[in-house]
Amino acid sequence: MAKVRDQFVAAARRADELGFDGIEVHMAHGYLLHEFLSPLSNERSDEYGGSLDNRMRFPLELFAAVREAVSPGKPVWVRISATDWAEGGWGISDSVALSQRLKDLGCAAIHVSTGGLSTAQRIPVTPGYQVEFAKTIKQATGMTTIAVGLVTEAQQAETIVATGHADAVAIGRAALYDPAGPGMPPLRWAHRSKRRSPTGKASRENSLNFSGRSSWDTAEQPRRQRISSLSLAL
Ligand SMILES: Cc1cc2nc3c(=O)[nH]c(=O)nc-3n(C[C@H](O)[C@H](O)[C@H](O)COP(=O)(O)O)c2cc1C
Repeated sequence: MAKVRDQFVAAARRADELGFDGIEVHMAHGYLLHEFLSPLSNERSDEYGGSLDNRMRFPLELFAAVREAVSPGKPVWVRISATDWAEGGWGISDSVALSQRLKDLGCAAIHVSTGGLSTAQRIPVTPGYQVEFAKTIKQATGMTTIAVGLVTEAQQAETIVATGHADAVAIGRAALYDPAGPGMPPLRWAHRSKRRSPTGKASRENSLNFSGRSSWDTAEQPRRQRISSLSLAL
């Protein structure tokens, strides 16, 4: 376990040195750290298995080591599966407890996904179906949260942030299906936007980013900064 922890630390340190702006530690989707957390997969009988505190122990130790290794001031956050969607599995109250402990360790945000651990999972897949979990964690802990999952419309993303359900929205498939170019929202979103450019001309350039500003506001900004506001909705 110490070796695995050190490998996570080494990877984070490499990413830091390469100039990445933040580090996300993956504790979701059935990967190793999720397997420690969930009672469905953690069968250990030592201090790393059994009670919730014990199941959280290795992920928290690992997070603390990664946080310590990454440059101060550079955000380190965690992606979790807020529920296993399976009876007897990890759930939202566990996720709130984990988020609080992570907050105490300096975690910058919780990226709230679900599932991926158990073949018994039953997921009610509807638009924004994971957003409520981000909202619960945000309200219970005061942490910055990132919502994800079937957010496919610009207005939907705007509403999630504007209503305080989450602080940021991550987009997966909508961006893959309809990419308009690096750092720009999907073309389809631009077409649906009612906004007009200062010249009144609707075009691909007249597209919303998730900060609520249109691309002509940001045209002069470095591309990297625009990508950041798109993907993090900050
Ligand atoms: C092709 C593809 C690859 C993905 N790879 C990862 C991954 O490596 N790690 C991860 O945490 N999530 C991964 N995801 C999940 C997405 O990050 C996201 O949580 C999920 O697609 C739900 O968001 P969406 O409805 O906006 O697509 C992947 C999704 C897709 C479609």
